[in-house]
Amino acid sequence: MADDEATAGFAIRSYEDADFDALGTLWNACRLVVPHNDPATDIAFCRAAADAELFVGLEDGRLVATVMTGHDGHRGWLYYLAVDPAMRHRGLGGRMVDHAETWLGARGVAKVNLMIRDGNTEAAAFYEAVGYAREPRVVMSRFLADKQG
Ligand SMILES: CC(C)(COP(=O)(O)OP(=O)(O)OC[C@H]1O[C@@H](n2cnc3c(N)ncnc32)[C@H](O)[C@@H]1OP(=O)(O)O)[C@@H](O)C(=O)NCCC(=O)NCCS
Repeated sequence: MADDEATAGFAIRSYEDADFDALGTLWNACRLVVPHNDPATDIAFCRAAADAELFVGLEDGRLVATVMTGHDGHRGWLYYLAVDPAMRHRGLGGRMVDHAETWLGARGVAKVNLMIRDGNTEAAAFYEAVGYAREPRVVMSRFLADKQG
């Protein structure tokens, strides 16, 4: 779904194929790329899903921010929130989260969750500053290599 929002040089829209190289550079600079998350695979999976979206933030046309969002029929989720290190503390992270929240809210989602890697105190401080609370939950997971189609 196309989505645009523009004010004062900063615009948010849906990811397009031509964004891939700039996005990869940003995610590497933000240390969001880990061995078990291949960006190309994650982006393709998101774009193929009806209930997910990858947004990019452009400052005067340059890709400087991202957020991936989606819902599973119950909760909304945020992933791959990133702001160019040279562009931080200008409110862009907050703008990206607000945009994703608006997208989720428009689809009837009542609550949004996210996970932060242990030790990423900056991300936790950011999310607390934009209204998120820590919840006493234990997150459990496993890879589905034995069941993947
Ligand atoms: C987290 C991140 C997206 C924040 O982006 P940002 O554009 O700097 O965020 P904002 O300017 O909207 O910050 C809003 C408020 O959050 C808080 N905040 C943001 N970064 C912070 C930090 N490093 N330490 C403490 N508080 C922080 C501040 O209160 C800030 O307001 P202020 O700048 O007026 O002090 C950015 O630091 C980033 O890309 N980090 C690396 C990737 C990452 O860890 N993503 C999250 C994965 S879960």
